[in-house]
Amino acid sequence: MVHAVTADHRPTKLYISQHAVTHNIAETRKAAHAKTVFLAVKANAYGFGLLEMSRAAVNGGADGLAVAVLDEALTLRQHGFTVPILVMSIVMPQYAEELADNDLITTVASDQWLHDAQPYLAQAARPLKVSMGIDTGMGRIGYRSRKEMDASLQFMQDHPHDFNYYGLMTHFSQADSSEVDYFHKQLARWHELTDTFPHPPMVHVANSGAAMYHADEIPTDVIRAGTVVYGIEPSLGELRDASYLEPVLTLTTQLIFVKQMHAGDGISYGHIYEAKEGEWSVPFR
Ligand SMILES: Cc1ncc(COP(=O)(O)O)c(C=O)c1O
Repeated sequence: MVHAVTADHRPTKLYISQHAVTHNIAETRKAAHAKTVFLAVKANAYGFGLLEMSRAAVNGGADGLAVAVLDEALTLRQHGFTVPILVMSIVMPQYAEELADNDLITTVASDQWLHDAQPYLAQAARPLKVSMGIDTGMGRIGYRSRKEMDASLQFMQDHPHDFNYYGLMTHFSQADSSEVDYFHKQLARWHELTDTFPHPPMVHVANSGAAMYHADEIPTDVIRAGTVVYGIEPSLGELRDASYLEPVLTLTTQLIFVKQMHAGDGISYGHIYEAKEGEWSVPFR
């Protein structure tokens, strides 16, 4: 087990701007015509800090939070977050009761998972909210056959005390550039697999790029946005100037050491930069 040390004894601090988070959520909601915005806070909220960013997101109008692993979701619940939480990757079936008891929306990508999880749900506080993940071309987790989807739906309907068919989702591998062929290929596959499949309360397919640039082609009532809310333009400016977003992070520090350089002095590993006469080197930690 690897534990990161928190360096409290140093003058460098990251601040999250509540104003920027609120603004970016509103911009995303507006562009996508979304009713429900989940903010992806996986991987320590993209490095912005799970609790700090989640707090700013909820205060700023986000309706739900999306995490990668069960422990992130449990940490949020333990810290009092009551908003809907979606766990986007596959949790081991033996934790099904913990998922249900904490009212977490759980991604399921195979019929086998439901069968494996069911025995663990006998004492659960409520039926487990299941979001079925469909692999339309990301190539990672998700159902790929309608036959298996049908079997899972039937199994959930046969066990209503254990499962609540709650979500249907896919994830686009490229939705944030002028290159749209693969996006359309994935979208066609989505339609093929889901058009005649019963739709649950939460159909969610859009990440930031899809939400910003494909809202007229896909369901966007519920979106799972990440980068755009963090203030990073999904197409890196290719499709839209980034000025509609506000930067979320501010880094402050104290200069603990400065030095003036001579022409040709190298700076850092592999002398990645060569100084001009009189420039200042300003390392911070
Ligand atoms: C399944 C899923 N949905 C949505 C997102 C958010 O993506 P983005 O940061 O591109 O908005 C992620 C992020 O990794 C994800 O894994």
